[in-house]
Amino acid sequence: MSWKVPLADIDLGLEEEEAVLRVVRSRWLSMGEETQNFEKEFAEFSGAKHALAVTNATAALHMACMAVNLGPGDEVILPSLTFVATANAVRYTGATPVFADVESEDWLTVSPASIEKCLTEKTRAILIVHYAGYPCDMAAIQAIAKKHNLAILEDSAHTIGSYLDERHLGTFGAVGCFSFFSNKNMTTGEGGMVTTNDDALAEKLRVLRSHGMTSLTWDRHKGHAWSYDVVDLGYNYRIDELRSAIGRAQLKKIPRFNQRRAELTRLYRELLSELAPQVGVPFNEERGVSCHHIMPVLLPRGTDRVQFMEAMKAQGIQTSIHYPPIHHFQNYEGHQEFLRDDLRVTEEVGAREVTLPLYPLLTDEDVRAVAEAVQKSVRG
Ligand SMILES: Cc1ncc(COP(=O)(O)O)c(C=O)c1O
Repeated sequence: MSWKVPLADIDLGLEEEEAVLRVVRSRWLSMGEETQNFEKEFAEFSGAKHALAVTNATAALHMACMAVNLGPGDEVILPSLTFVATANAVRYTGATPVFADVESEDWLTVSPASIEKCLTEKTRAILIVHYAGYPCDMAAIQAIAKKHNLAILEDSAHTIGSYLDERHLGTFGAVGCFSFFSNKNMTTGEGGMVTTNDDALAEKLRVLRSHGMTSLTWDRHKGHAWSYDVVDLGYNYRIDELRSAIGRAQLKKIPRFNQRRAELTRLYRELLSELAPQVGVPFNEERGVSCHHIMPVLLPRGTDRVQFMEAMKAQGIQTSIHYPPIHHFQNYEGHQEFLRDDLRVTEEVGAREVTLPLYPLLTDEDVRAVAEAVQKSVRG
């Protein structure tokens, strides 16, 4: 299907082409200088003390769960309104995900009040998601974590260039997990980054990323090591030099990309309030600085969402849903142990949310065309 306005699009240019050529010509394709520089530049950008590039954010999340020693018998509180990878990562370790509700129809991040209702003596961590790049209520979540001695892990897949109190999201908790999947604010195709301010956790993450080994091919190439020991049950979650080089070029463009996303989001808000005021546009509170990863809206109660999305499609506009709540998936349903608080707001948002196209290459005219299509489609 060729869309008049697709849901997402990527902005790759000469800089990325040159980056790939540079790596191909260097004839060193995995874990080398590009990756080291990408990590250094991402750490500087985010303010994290340590940044380790990995194969994707799902791997980052799995490593984060392992780094804080989650395992069978442990419980982790997280929202159901997220991508399934957030909860899967908890289950990879044998720990139990427990789903909390989101704050409100206006602010779609996990509710501190609901987190409190999910606590038991088995709770070990809170895995938060900064939905669409908008910050969770960190003061309240940090207070709960401190009181109950819990680790905070951050699914920061949506947050490249998002801040709260001038601190980059993903650097509040023990470990931050970023995604560079192709629909993200910056992309390497597949790719991710794991960040921490804790030296011991950084060392653990480094070892987990590469089979639990104490040294890498790169160290041996550089003459720093002759052999290695294996000190943990690790994985191969490494990135390669091609993707790191693309990531470095994309990271430089993030300020421009995010500025454009902010402008487009403002324009959507103006046009939707004028043309389709019955459609809800979340995130009206003043809280931090978002990188505007996606453009979620809430259809009026009683609207047939499939019919709405079909009507948008008929006008050439691609839409999506963020997210079908995880606890309704076949592989999650029936696990009573995953449900402790009632998920009233999650159910509402999960049933009425539609995501509109948002990416830096979108023009003002595209946004107007989408808003007009929403106006027509919501009337039915
Ligand atoms: C909230 C969230 N968490 C985790 C992921 C997984 O990221 P990746 O595709 O890099 O594994 C995504 C990706 O879409 C996401 O949106």
